[in-house]
Amino acid sequence: MHSNIEEGAVTACDKTQDDYSQSLRDFLTSWDLEYKGKTKKLDLFNPSITAQYTDDQKEYFARTFYHIRGHFYKFLWMLGNNAPNKELKNQILYNIEEEFGGDSPSHEELYFEFTKALKLDITDEFLTEKNHLPFIKEFNLKHLEWLKDNDWPGKWAAFSAYERLDNIDYANLLGLARSFGVTGHGLTFYIIHNKADHFDRTYQNLVEVWKLDQYKVKEAFGFIGSHQINMWKILSDTIQKR
Ligand SMILES: [Fe+2]
Ligand SMILES: [Fe+2]
Repeated sequence: MHSNIEEGAVTACDKTQDDYSQSLRDFLTSWDLEYKGKTKKLDLFNPSITAQYTDDQKEYFARTFYHIRGHFYKFLWMLGNNAPNKELKNQILYNIEEEFGGDSPSHEELYFEFTKALKLDITDEFLTEKNHLPFIKEFNLKHLEWLKDNDWPGKWAAFSAYERLDNIDYANLLGLARSFGVTGHGLTFYIIHNKADHFDRTYQNLVEVWKLDQYKVKEAFGFIGSHQINMWKILSDTIQKR
């Protein structure tokens, strides 16, 4: 009898956990749809438009996107410095380790394979930051300010949102790179990010934040999504005007 009650309690508890997970999944599905819908309206993610880009427009994209993706290590650094325990710190270390690529080329090197396919050498950008333009600096800075202004669950939710964008953005970016006529190794950078499982690695802890305070998750995803769309829109319009 006693054990039945216990079993019942466990079942009820599991159900609640499932409910949380389900409501979070519903939220994520609608967030994805809204975000994807907004990217579809941008010239930047319309391959029939980007296939017509001039060499100057392609170079502008290659150099600016380097800084849009390439300052994420500061985000990870801030997260790691604030992570409450070793397990979470290790998750962040794993993300950095992956950037270095193990026995394979680092993501930085893979990006340079893409630019080489466009006959560009942009290896000076890391030091000169010549194309770390004001709107990109602002984009990068706002991420760090968000981390500074939010508690650990809020920080984690923002990290999770950013990782979720990997799979959406890189599907669009892969189409963009292909439209430039890039093939083979030049696309590897985009292919591996498109397939990244980074969001899944954040999921378990995201459910915990959702249980604690759904608003925190909604606010963080709202910020990351609109902030990213804003940046893509400026980039798209700026390239179009060149
Ligand atoms: Fe990467
Ligand atoms: Fe990622």
